[in-house]
Amino acid sequence: MINNGKIQSNVVAIQQIHQQYGGVVPELASRAHQQNIVPVVHQALHMANIDKKQLSAIAFTRGPGLMGSLLVGTSFSKSLALGLGIPLIDVDHMQAHILAHFIKTEGKESPKFPFLALTISGGHTQIVKVSDYFEMEVIGQTIDDAVGEAFDKSAKILGFPYPGGPLIDKYAQEGNPKAFKFPKPKVGPLDFSFSGLKTSVLYFVEKEMDKNPDFIAENVADICASIQFTIVEYLMDKLKNAVKKTGISEIAIGGGVSANSGIRKALMDAQKKYGWTTHIPKFEYCTDNAAMIAMVGELKYKAGMFAENNVVASARMKF
Ligand code: KG4
Ligand code: ZN
Repeated sequence: MINNGKIQSNVVAIQQIHQQYGGVVPELASRAHQQNIVPVVHQALHMANIDKKQLSAIAFTRGPGLMGSLLVGTSFSKSLALGLGIPLIDVDHMQAHILAHFIKTEGKESPKFPFLALTISGGHTQIVKVSDYFEMEVIGQTIDDAVGEAFDKSAKILGFPYPGGPLIDKYAQEGNPKAFKFPKPKVGPLDFSFSGLKTSVLYFVEKEMDKNPDFIAENVADICASIQFTIVEYLMDKLKNAVKKTGISEIAIGGGVSANSGIRKALMDAQKKYGWTTHIPKFEYCTDNAAMIAMVGELKYKAGMFAENNVVASARMKF
């Protein structure tokens, strides 16, 4: 729930079910969405202390994402908007990770156009040139896995539950980032490749376990710190290339992986080191959340950008 850039409530239902399977099972995700959507909307209204009749529009995620889950949100939002007789607004998930920076937050200034956004999540890794709220151009992206997958798949090799990214981050804090070396794949200057990283982590761990079956347990902090260091350095290399190419040094990060302490620190350091202006979202606006969808909803509402009632969910969306 949002009112003039200020978040009134931001309810997120955590889906525990995926931990048992070591990853997101699409069918289970959509069933959990179905179970959660009514209670979550009720709770959001309750926390914002308003009645649904006071709402001026309904914003929903049209894509990209898992089709089953998107269908639940799309159908529910359409019905609710129709029932209340208010406009419906479709939101692009990746645009929302970027525009979350415009949520009014104490002590934080919104980015100034044009800026570069590094969107790093479980499904995406992109560098986007943002010239205006809805004028965005993807100038670099992953050619295979997303960075969140690199974290989660490496974590799985180490025996961590899903999603393992936050756990790698946690153990990395106590480890030596230079203990082990992992390769940084060579692709185009603004592009990324992460599929090789999990393979090199796997081969490395298998080789060491042959020599010492307790290798993971004895070196978990150093392994995590080294994986995180490689990923963060790789992301920063690409950002530096993008700044050089575009001449834009106003930088914002978004998406689940922007919660990572390594990338947050690297960006803060970049302010002093390279003179960039960097924008790092509050933790609750990093991983998928309702507030960022509401923010885009409000921007579109003010611009009169509404969805038709026959709008359909889209698993792969491009802006
Ligand atoms: O944006 P998001 O919540 O969902 C998608 O749209 O994919 O991103 C989820 C991803 C997961 O891969 C998760 O492991 C990763 O964000 N993540 C992290 C951290 N917190 C979340 N990765 C590394 N360090 C973290 N602290
Ligand atoms: Zn996301």
